[in-house]
Amino acid sequence: MKIELKPFSKQSPETKLLVVYRFEEREFHPTLDAIGLADAPTLKQAIAADDLKGKKGATSLLYLGEDSPTKRVLVVGVGKREKFVLEGLMTAVATAVWKAEQLGVTELTCYPLPLNNEEESVGQTVLAALLANYRFDHYQPKLAEKPRLSALNIIVKEIGDALNSAVEKAVIVAKYQNFSRELINEPVNVMTPLEFASRVSREAEKIGLQCDVHDEEWIHKKGMKLLWGVAKGSEEPPRLVVLRHEGGGKDAPWLGIVGKGVMFDTGGLSLKNTAGMLGMKGDMGGGAATVGAMLAAAALGVKKNIIGIVPAAINSIDGRAQNVSDIVQSFDGPSVEIVNTDAEGRLVVADGLSYARELGAETLIDICTLTGASVVALGTKVAALFTDNDDLRDIVLNGVKTTAEQFWQLPLFDHYAETLKSTYAETKNSGGRWGGASSAAKFLEKFTDGKPWAHLDIAGKELLDKPWICYRKGATAFGVRTLLEVIVKLND
Ligand code: BES
Ligand code: MN
Ligand code: ZN
Repeated sequence: MKIELKPFSKQSPETKLLVVYRFEEREFHPTLDAIGLADAPTLKQAIAADDLKGKKGATSLLYLGEDSPTKRVLVVGVGKREKFVLEGLMTAVATAVWKAEQLGVTELTCYPLPLNNEEESVGQTVLAALLANYRFDHYQPKLAEKPRLSALNIIVKEIGDALNSAVEKAVIVAKYQNFSRELINEPVNVMTPLEFASRVSREAEKIGLQCDVHDEEWIHKKGMKLLWGVAKGSEEPPRLVVLRHEGGGKDAPWLGIVGKGVMFDTGGLSLKNTAGMLGMKGDMGGGAATVGAMLAAAALGVKKNIIGIVPAAINSIDGRAQNVSDIVQSFDGPSVEIVNTDAEGRLVVADGLSYARELGAETLIDICTLTGASVVALGTKVAALFTDNDDLRDIVLNGVKTTAEQFWQLPLFDHYAETLKSTYAETKNSGGRWGGASSAAKFLEKFTDGKPWAHLDIAGKELLDKPWICYRKGATAFGVRTLLEVIVKLND
């Protein structure tokens, strides 16, 4: 998509589609006066009839006549002014992008909605437009032929370095978030651990991000038996993907990010039913987000040291699949009794966390589609945060202002670990239904060796069955921008 900043003028711009925003208080953004549209008859009529109520998500399309340089005006409602936040901006931009697509118009012009400053407004506008424009359509040739937006003009007060760099940054973040979404959208007959690893390493190579891919033999020899145990029920072998970005120099501390890379989760012998299995191609959403954030951080040249680890495996069943009651030795932590093969995410991530420590990570963060319990607790729009670390908590929770990714903290009280006591091994892999999101977190905590750590349970946010903010149905790569926040803000 071609993105251009254009200077503000008092005349309405030459465009096929001009987007203006309307607050519920009946205010336009920008005011029609400022952009030379105060006298446009159709707009005046619509205002007089009070047809432009500014309800969030409402759209009205108006025509200005042949002589006008502005062919169409799309009025997008953005709700109450006092309630307006980043999510409102992103939703409004996406609404405009999708409306243009419906109309078959491939170019649009808009003004950035107000946030803290113009840089932020412009950056988020670009990001939202690029995320909204992404479409997973290569299995639907008819849909793929349908034109998408190809030019976005943003009218600003004054073009300069700050705004240009805001655009550049947004383009990079959107590119890698969309790359992650592609990984998630592909079904497991395409997106095997091998395919995942090869797409990631190809992308990393393009920007000089170090990427090591370890195969099943390496994983076996290394003693990552929890990862191995999950993987062995599938014909497709596992991979361990390790990304390293040394942007902070020799003496800077390392942050380790571990993302759950279960390419598909059948549940294993503790088999899911069909409905429960349907969204499980998205069970590598945490791994995809990890990869997206690492690629973006490297491309942006973030001056921090970061390791990104994705244990990639398919949780499936055949004659070699792990059994309920198996006892498995973790790579660096307790022996584990597998009481439920469907609690597999914590197993692969546990070995990932231990390996991040071995590679020198001083602070740990993991991101997983880990539990149905977190979806029951928080729904499909809010993700769960577990941490005892104040810095990590503040960054993740405040991140919503710049990411529109909402997290809510759930507890890590010690008693949640009691449900994990095993008769035969040092721990079980599941504590059962009640408090299931917290006991899963307590399981992972056993592999952090007391290091500062945050666990993000993003289950239900990775794949959508209806559009949301700037995402069409399908993959979101929720978490990419929260991870970036942590990368940029931690130890700053
Ligand atoms: N991948 C699932 C969690 C999940 C549920 C992700 C819904 C996305 C949407 C995870 O591996 C799982 O199966 N968890 C079990 C744990 C249970 C067996 C202790 C669950 O939540 O039911
Ligand atoms: Mn599972
Ligand atoms: Zn899973």
